[in-house]
Amino acid sequence: MNPFGFQFAAILLLLLNTVMVLETQAANVKPQRITCYKRYSKCYLKYITCPSECPQIRPKDPYAKECFLDCYSPKCEAVCRKRKPNCDGPGAACYDPRFIGGDGIVFYFHGKKDEHFSLISDVTVQINARFIGLRPAGRTRDFTWIQALGLMFGSHNFTLEATKAENWNQEVDHLKCTYDGMSFRVPIGHSSVWSSPDRNLELERTSATNSVRVTIQEIVEISANVVPVTEKEDAIHSYGIPKNDSFAHLEVQFRFFDLSPKVEGILGRTYQPSFKNSAKAGVDMAVVGGDNKYKTSSLLSADCNSCSVFTPGKMVAGRALPMDFGSLDCTGGNGIVCKK
Ligand SMILES: *[C@@H]1O[C@H](CO)[C@@H](O)[C@H](O)[C@H]1NC(C)=O
Ligand SMILES: *[C@@H]1O[C@H](CO)[C@@H](O)[C@H](O)[C@H]1NC(C)=O
Repeated sequence: MNPFGFQFAAILLLLLNTVMVLETQAANVKPQRITCYKRYSKCYLKYITCPSECPQIRPKDPYAKECFLDCYSPKCEAVCRKRKPNCDGPGAACYDPRFIGGDGIVFYFHGKKDEHFSLISDVTVQINARFIGLRPAGRTRDFTWIQALGLMFGSHNFTLEATKAENWNQEVDHLKCTYDGMSFRVPIGHSSVWSSPDRNLELERTSATNSVRVTIQEIVEISANVVPVTEKEDAIHSYGIPKNDSFAHLEVQFRFFDLSPKVEGILGRTYQPSFKNSAKAGVDMAVVGGDNKYKTSSLLSADCNSCSVFTPGKMVAGRALPMDFGSLDCTGGNGIVCKK
């Protein structure tokens, strides 16, 4: 055998070996079982085995799909789902901001930079967004992105913010959070979890940095990434992003559990049962104006003209339910921090 042939054979063997090792690893993961602790759920205390394609509820691999059981669905079935926001799915707010309504229809909202707007205003929850942006010379309106979210529910408040980054580096975390006015840090690292002292709110990292999922019991689940405006996007849209600011912002997807038919807000109104989108699906992209309706005075206030729905202090009928921290190692203190 010539030396080249030998090398080739060795590499082939190595590759084969790797494939075999990977396969055995996948086969070795025993599917976990998952259940719902909500009494009104179809799956209440029924233990469902996860699909073999996504055997774990909180997979260690940031690219793996998770096993998910929708406790609010009429079907009791565990499925695989991505852990990051899907910018093309309902309840998404990404890019400069492009929304996907509860009805699945795409629309844009022309906000203003350095102002706050109500995304959701409902009986039990108010969700505002802070817009950042810029206006290149000669343009009549701002280009904007969502930099922060402010939530009020019951007597609590929560904020999630993308911090400023001159030059973007994915290894550096650009998330800042507060709960009831106190800032808290979630340890860097995939699957690290923070839970509020009353356990109403849980925040889990879905990759080592810059991705989280926030769950507020009975109300909403938010998947979010912090991302910069990329050079490519800048070139396509001629935003004119300056060299010293990456315009770090949020891309988010909401999943609501209990909206009322009166829900308001830029995104909220698309969840009204009677809502008729003025845009025909796939034909035209509606641009929503109406900043006079949705503008709020700060990240945590419900004073927009169409915000009258939110009642501070009002909690949902169900009480806070215990969460399943599985094999996580939790320490107390100001909030509970868990690490795998
Ligand atoms: C957020 O909650 C804390 C604790 O209840 C409260 O002191 C603070 O005023 C709230 N912040 C806003 C802006 O409502
Ligand atoms: C970028 O530079 C401009 C003008 O030179 C300055 O006004 C601005 O504050 C700088 N931004 C950052 C994030 O340093």
